[in-house]
Order: sequence, then C-alpha cells, then structure tokens
Amino acid sequence: VRSSILLTASVTAAITAAPCFFTGAEPGLRCLIVYPWTQRYFAGFGNLYNAAAITSNPKVAAHGKVVMQGLEKAVKNMDNIKATFTELSTLHSEKLQVDPDNFMLLGDCLAIVVASQLGEDFTPEVHAAFQKFLAVVVSSLRRQYY
Ligand code: HEM
Repeated sequence: VRSSILLTASVTAAITAAPCFFTGAEPGLRCLIVYPWTQRYFAGFGNLYNAAAITSNPKVAAHGKVVMQGLEKAVKNMDNIKATFTELSTLHSEKLQVDPDNFMLLGDCLAIVVASQLGEDFTPEVHAAFQKFLAVVVSSLRRQYY
C-alpha cells in the first residue's frame, strides 16, 4: 500500500510539474528543432532558421507558455479532458489545420523534458502514467478532426 501511495504521489508530481517545465519553452523548442516540419505552422513567428534562432525566438517562448496553460487545464480537469479540449481541438483542426500526428511528437518532447528534470524519480511506472496522460490529451485534441 505504501509503495502504491508513493507511486501515486510521484505520478501526480510528474504530471503537475510538467506545466512548470514547459514555461521554459523547452518542449516546444525541442519539437521545432527535432521535428522541423512542425515549423510550417508558425510562419508568423519570424526567424526559425536554425536551432539557435528557434531557441532565442521570443514568440516561441511566449507560445510555449500558452500551450502549457492549455495543458494545465487538462491537469486540473483530469476526469474530463475530452470536454475541456473541445474548442482547442476544433481550433487546431479547422482554423490552424495542424496535422494531428504532430500532437504526440510534442508530447514526447514534453516527456523527455520532464524525465530530464525528474531524473531517478522518473521511474518506468511514472513514465507509464505520464504517457497515459499524454495519450488522453492527444486523443482529446484529435477528437474534432474529421
Ligand atoms: C495555438 C495548445 C500542439 C500549433 C495553441 C493554443 C493552445 C494550444 C492553448 C492557443 C489557443 C488560442 O489562442 O485560443 C496545444 C496543446 C498541444 C498543442 C495542449 C499538444 C499537447 C500543437 C502542435 C502544433 C500546434 C503539435 C503544430 C505542430 C499551434 C498553432 C497555434 C496553436 C500554429 C496558433 C499560434 C499563434 O499563431 O499564436 N495551441 N497545442 N499546436 N497551436 Fe497548439
């Protein structure tokens, strides 16, 4: 029982900590650098020419915060993520026309940043729970696509 309480506590810590890690914009930066085709949606953000330009781009940093606030909403509405993301899903589908396969790419970057911050505390169990959370986020964002 004790270990399951500890596990629940560390999973909750990982998931709630994720938005804080993102305020540093690192997952977004990584996504744009590691998966460069994601840059095409951010034509209005100016210079994304190379890793250094992306890393020092203030619009990228500001947008990272906005996305994280979106994820924070998911954390706070853990039992109702699908409904929470209805509008956001419609926006990404109809207005932004983001290929939904990109959602998990950003999710993976987020997991890598959280893992590097948590170090040993990012156990396989915590990782599994974190991926489950991301899977629900991604399927909720995909929901309004047709
Ligand atoms: C905008 C969340 C993934 C492209 C936004 C906004 C939020 C958000 C909260 C602002 C919405 C508003 O202004 O009302 C998320 C979450 C994601 C995700 C939670 C996944 C975990 C992605 C991915 C891409 C993308 C993978 C593209 C590869 C965009 C674009 C905008 C946007 C282009 C508009 C940016 C602007 O011009 O200001 N997203 N997003 N999003 N998102 Fe996402």
